[in-house]
Amino acid sequence: MKVLITGGAGFIGSHLSEKFLNEGKKVVSVDDLSTGSYENISHLTNNKNFQFVYETIFNETVVDRIVSECDMIVHLAAAVGVELVMSNQVKVIETNIHGTDTILKIANRYRKKILIASTSEVYGKNDKTPFSETDDFLMGATINARWSYACTKAIDEFLALAYHKEFNLPVIIVRLFNTVGPKQTGQYGMVIPRFVKQALKSENITVYGDGNQTRCFCHVTDVCQALSKLLYSPKAVGEIVNVGSNYEITIRDLALKIIKQTKSKSNIKMISYEKAYQSGFEDMLKRVPDISKVKKLVNFVPVKSLEEIIYDVKDYMLKTGRY
Ligand SMILES: NC(=O)c1ccc[n+]([C@@H]2O[C@H](COP(=O)([O-])OP(=O)(O)OC[C@H]3O[C@@H](n4cnc5c(N)ncnc54)[C@H](O)[C@@H]3O)[C@@H](O)[C@H]2O)c1
Repeated sequence: MKVLITGGAGFIGSHLSEKFLNEGKKVVSVDDLSTGSYENISHLTNNKNFQFVYETIFNETVVDRIVSECDMIVHLAAAVGVELVMSNQVKVIETNIHGTDTILKIANRYRKKILIASTSEVYGKNDKTPFSETDDFLMGATINARWSYACTKAIDEFLALAYHKEFNLPVIIVRLFNTVGPKQTGQYGMVIPRFVKQALKSENITVYGDGNQTRCFCHVTDVCQALSKLLYSPKAVGEIVNVGSNYEITIRDLALKIIKQTKSKSNIKMISYEKAYQSGFEDMLKRVPDISKVKKLVNFVPVKSLEEIIYDVKDYMLKTGRY
């Protein structure tokens, strides 16, 4: 069994590569290292079942050859992270739409099963709790750059479902909620690595907005377990599935928890969204997944606690000096 992982040198992709290799599968990882890094996968490069290809998924010739030699595809390559989305919109839109279009077209050419990573962002400003897969999208105005990421991922979902409906391509769409763990970088706006880094450096922990917005965080090893189970489940084909944790915490409480758990001297500093991003930035107050579908389909429930997530992120940063 040989799996192509696009974005395989990224945060989730590197963990998934490791999991698949441990299960005895062969992995080809294609990544342009735009937000991912070689360090994430350097420990795998001696494994004879692992191949890293430093390339963009826009290179159709290379991707075509790799897909023709693989059994399945996990498509994770994307331009990700709120800060990147706010500052580099053209890249985000081009990567997420053109990249997914390319990979779906080639997957269809060789009739290969493909799992596509989508996001909880597609629920937009819908204030329902929890979100289930058939809930409406509620996007803000296009003048607000924040929504472009969600719209690109929604288009990816439409396109994947269309390939399934029109050409019977086996596709699985996974809407990931906040996924966290070692190797994730705070550089592009991911909140837990950013807070842990600030705590370890005894800097102010910068909470954006009023801090009352809540999020649910799922450990990356739990997420990889769900992705692996879904990839091998015939029942998941043609489905959209939420994957994440439904344990909710406010961002202010998260900052306090990280200060306590890291025994940091940091203080909390509140920063308005306007200052952190740009005027008109909109955020969602809550984002809780309904995870009954993934449980029903593949009997998945996340097992790692928020304390374990914080511990693992801190431990990784201290061991590698990457903070
Ligand atoms: N981490 C989360 O909380 C989260 C939540 C929702 C959805 N997702 C989705 O999961 C996927 C993986 O996210 P992640 O958190 O690991 O982010 P990441 O930034 O670490 O991974 C994305 C990877 O894609 C690579 N990439 C980008 N453009 C590319 C291109 N043109 N060609 C080849 N490689 C390219 C990057 O270098 C990076 O390694 C993404 O599709 C993202 O939208 C993640």
